[in-house]
Amino acid sequence: MTELPVTAGRLVVRRFTAADVAAFTAYRSDPHVARYQGWAAPVPEADARQLVAEFAEAEEGVPGWFQYAVEAGGVLVGDVGVCLADNRMQADLGFTIAREHQGRGYATEAVRCVLDRVFATGVRRVSAECDARNTASARLLDRLGFGREGLRRRHTWLKGEWTDDLLFGLLAEDWDAAAPGPAIFACRPNLLVADVGASLGFYADELGFAVGWRWSDRKARFLTEGEPHEPGTALVGRDHVQLMLTQVPGAHTTRLHLDVHSAAQVDRLFGEWRERGVEIAEPPFVRPWGKYEMRLHDPDGNVLRVSSPPAS
Ligand SMILES: CC(C)(COP(=O)(O)OP(=O)(O)OC[C@H]1O[C@@H](n2cnc3c(N)ncnc32)[C@H](O)[C@@H]1OP(=O)(O)O)[C@@H](O)C(=O)NCCC(=O)NCCS
Repeated sequence: MTELPVTAGRLVVRRFTAADVAAFTAYRSDPHVARYQGWAAPVPEADARQLVAEFAEAEEGVPGWFQYAVEAGGVLVGDVGVCLADNRMQADLGFTIAREHQGRGYATEAVRCVLDRVFATGVRRVSAECDARNTASARLLDRLGFGREGLRRRHTWLKGEWTDDLLFGLLAEDWDAAAPGPAIFACRPNLLVADVGASLGFYADELGFAVGWRWSDRKARFLTEGEPHEPGTALVGRDHVQLMLTQVPGAHTTRLHLDVHSAAQVDRLFGEWRERGVEIAEPPFVRPWGKYEMRLHDPDGNVLRVSSPPAS
């Protein structure tokens, strides 16, 4: 993970410093900002100073709260807090933007940046909750892809009344699926050969490729009814390139393996291509060898196998 500070669109997301006390005290003391939060406005400056000192000392990526400072145009405009559970696989989220900086998309940008960092460390689930009347907060969570998981009625005693809480959750696979980043990261041609043993002799012994695996070594583990029919398949690789060699009798078409980072991204591609009217020969499912794979044919009958590790 890159070190803080990081740039996120129009914002800088960074650690808190002592220089933030005045701006932090000001926006947290706004009754509009504090309305659905656990603190009362105004916030005494001594309390804010103490909090900022704690934020500045906390360590990102260790269990407990870490508060990110959100800056726009050199000004502190808010904060995003993450509480990492002791198991380091779950986290809770909170966020605040100063009133004069709301309604500009800053919260969306800042929280998205923080979630990228959180999920990159292996966190599987992020939870959030808000007062059911806090529509700006609920809209933000909806926008980021959180699922609404429930309503706890009269659950929290807040500022003189029992209030309802909306519960939200976001899973790592939801986040991966929504990620605009590239899904397909490699293409492995599957060369159809007359004799896989002779081909291995050429690629391994003469060209110096390493043999990744041979189907015959794994046959007992992987062969199941109807899958596959190849009498011999092997994987060879050198530097950053891998080739598959498959011995197929009779007429055949070319095959390509398109490697995708996650099962959620395979699902996303499946949805995207189906919406565009592409005929998917075999929808994604976990194959006997453990890959999550879908298959489609191009107009010439060439087979595209699109696969990823299975969902965790
Ligand atoms: C919750 C909170 C952070 C949401 O802030 P926000 O400004 O509404 O959220 P964003 O920064 O993502 O801005 C989105 C809004 O800006 C608008 N917007 C304007 N310009 C935009 C741009 N360039 N890009 C994206 N959105 C833009 C969007 O249309 C959206 O408006 P809408 O909600 O009316 O549809 C804010 O209301 C807040 O700090 N509240 C007080 C603290 C609090 O209650 N925290 C949550 C506790 S659970």
